[in-house]
Amino acid sequence: MRGTVLVILGVLACVTARHLRAEDEALPPGLLIGAGVSACQAEGAWNLSGKAESVLDKVAHSNKVFPANVDVAADHYHRYKEDLAYAKEMHFNSHRFSISWSRVLPTGDANNPSMEGVSFYHEYIKEIKAAGMEPMVTMSHFDHPFTLEESSKGWTNAAMISKFEEYANFLFKTYGSEVKYWTTINEPNMFCNYFTTILFKAGLAPNADNDIYRCLHHITLAHLRVYRLYKDLYYKTQQGLVGCSAMLWPTVPATTNSEDMEAAEAFIEMYTGTVLHPLIYGEYPPVTRYLVDKRSKELGLPESRLPHFTQEEKAQLEEQPTDFIALNVYSGFKASYKLNDSDGDAKPKMLGPISYDMPFLKLTGVSDFGGDVDRLTHDAILRVWDSYHKPIVIAENGFGDTLGLGINDDLRAAYHSASLRSLIRSMNEYGINVLGYYVWALLDVFEFSAGYSGRPFGLVHVDYESGSLKRTLKESSKFFIKLGETGKVPYVAPPEQSTEPAPSTALPSTPTALPSTPTAPSSTPTAQSTATSLPSTTTQPPSTSASTRGPTTSEKPPSTTPSSSSCASVSSLVLTILASSSVLRR
Ligand SMILES: *[C@@H]1O[C@H](CO)[C@@H](O)[C@H](O)[C@H]1NC(C)=O
Ligand SMILES: *[C@@H]1O[C@H](CO)[C@@H](O)[C@H](O)[C@H]1NC(C)=O
Repeated sequence: MRGTVLVILGVLACVTARHLRAEDEALPPGLLIGAGVSACQAEGAWNLSGKAESVLDKVAHSNKVFPANVDVAADHYHRYKEDLAYAKEMHFNSHRFSISWSRVLPTGDANNPSMEGVSFYHEYIKEIKAAGMEPMVTMSHFDHPFTLEESSKGWTNAAMISKFEEYANFLFKTYGSEVKYWTTINEPNMFCNYFTTILFKAGLAPNADNDIYRCLHHITLAHLRVYRLYKDLYYKTQQGLVGCSAMLWPTVPATTNSEDMEAAEAFIEMYTGTVLHPLIYGEYPPVTRYLVDKRSKELGLPESRLPHFTQEEKAQLEEQPTDFIALNVYSGFKASYKLNDSDGDAKPKMLGPISYDMPFLKLTGVSDFGGDVDRLTHDAILRVWDSYHKPIVIAENGFGDTLGLGINDDLRAAYHSASLRSLIRSMNEYGINVLGYYVWALLDVFEFSAGYSGRPFGLVHVDYESGSLKRTLKESSKFFIKLGETGKVPYVAPPEQSTEPAPSTALPSTPTALPSTPTAPSSTPTAQSTATSLPSTTTQPPSTSASTRGPTTSEKPPSTTPSSSSCASVSSLVLTILASSSVLRR
């Protein structure tokens, strides 16, 4: 019951726009801190070192979906030493990157690796360590070999599970003595929704709208297999951690109306809980089961689009096969129950077909990668810790520059200052075990809908305009340099407020100190940006109940056995509320 109360209070607390204090927050000892890149978005060299076309290369080459190709990208493949030197200059103690599956195993066959590709990552990891950083490795960041997509029909088909296991086994065997932090598949929820749509648009796959849950299901099972493989064969000698990943959009109710609160809760469970809940409780969230079964029936399908786990899978999933949860968190939404059909379909396209299963839902307040940030990491980690009680890595958090700030990106420093301060305060307040925090991205890289110039995220500017790809540290790098030197998160006021004295006390009903809508562009996939004013409430978050749960940070996660009764009940309670309310009846 406590879990339920916490979540509900947590949601209410979000509405109160937790205010930033002016003092600098001290960085918790042992917290990994760094910035990330992914192979497909940064490396380029798409056909060098024996690399085969990845599914994303193929999409790019179709010229139908992306605004540019990734043949050269940031040329990180050739310039990684310079790029990692910038990471070192910013005093990062960790670096997050992904391995290109099609660079090491061009056809997916572990008996036929590309030795040149394999040694590239040996050198890459060596460089990271020489710079005093810990590698945080993602095995698959959207870019599996295209031949696998063709032969196995991609993640909507179960054949991908054993191919991924083969690949992971190869990675553990090859790099496992050097890598202590592994994440299996980046953002399955973003991948199965947005990227399967992209494949369809590029003419490379049939419309997979009805297959998104099979895609998620197979990724969950692939993660399970790989986790067990590591524990069985590698953990004893390598002593690393294997985590799962999910995209999370912390979503608050647009009003205190109970229907809006239920809509917010249902959205988080559907979009993120569908990925994470099975890895802790062995089954899909009750809300997901209810909504997808219901809609499948309405569509006249012979069976539900949401598969079931076998008894054996369920038993293995209940062993909680994940050492940490990697969250990618950029911005949030405000949810409301759509009372008026003339409101239209107010859902960001990026969320993909999963949102059709919530016809009652309306999402507004879209700030598109960089708006209202002071509650963001608080909401994210409180929610995930309370629901799953596993160590958390903020694997991506970043400011997409749609204003053309270039290297004068004080707003980005303000974003990361607010985000980190909120993160650390919440870790301390609730005893939440957060292992690391990673900026997206180390440098300006290819962004799937925005290309190279529409919305750069980097701390290092890359000159795509002239084509020189020359690197320049942006102003925001000074924030991280100071953080590294002092061990404290510098307070950075947003530029337009810098003449006012920084706030020094927490005032629950004061609006956020950050500019409210500076980054709502019109040409992004996250559609609408409707300013909905939030009512202020005086609800206080519980400040003591969670503090006894575990250490704030530690190198090794505690082997927790979360009280599944209290956490599982969160979802069932929401289902009960939903089922008995007008939200699901209409
Ligand atoms: C790699 O692709 C580029 C185009 O991006 C092409 O110009 C080049 O010839 C290709 N190299 C090889 C070795 O196939
Ligand atoms: C629905 O919205 C339309 C357009 O904003 C408005 O004219 C209409 O009165 C609304 N209907 C209800 C029931 O609120």
